[in-house]
Amino acid sequence: TYEKLWLVAAMVLIVGIIATITYGTVGLGIAMVDDQEDTISPNDLGEDERFSDPRVEQVGENEYEAYVIAQTFTYQPNPIEVPENSEVTFYVTSRDVIHSFSLVGTNVNTMVVPGEVASITAEFDEPAEYGVVCNEYCGSGHHDMEGMVYVL
Ligand code: CUA
Repeated sequence: TYEKLWLVAAMVLIVGIIATITYGTVGLGIAMVDDQEDTISPNDLGEDERFSDPRVEQVGENEYEAYVIAQTFTYQPNPIEVPENSEVTFYVTSRDVIHSFSLVGTNVNTMVVPGEVASITAEFDEPAEYGVVCNEYCGSGHHDMEGMVYVL
């Protein structure tokens, strides 16, 4: 009855695959759409098209991109202003040490590592104010490292 064993093994495998896919989907945050990563040297920020001028840029009818630099103990630009009913992708990098970019009360939360560009997309449906905080210990001013996102 080797045949039966193989059948059982195949079933276990299929159930396992389905469970993995389901768990993966449930595990995703509501506001998080993508988490692709890209690299950049902190020394090149001044010449980079995105980061030489940290800003919010409109890229579609309701789509915006925010290029943000974290640096002890600030975020640039600050505050960040976007309109309601918008989808915003934040591209965040660090000029010095590891920080995070975390919108209080949401699941928009990403570690910001020098040399890497973290990206995270959020949808803002209505006017709101979100504090931005750093969740990675980055020195004496860590607890004061704050910013604001205004959805207008
Ligand atoms: Cu930046 Cu903690």
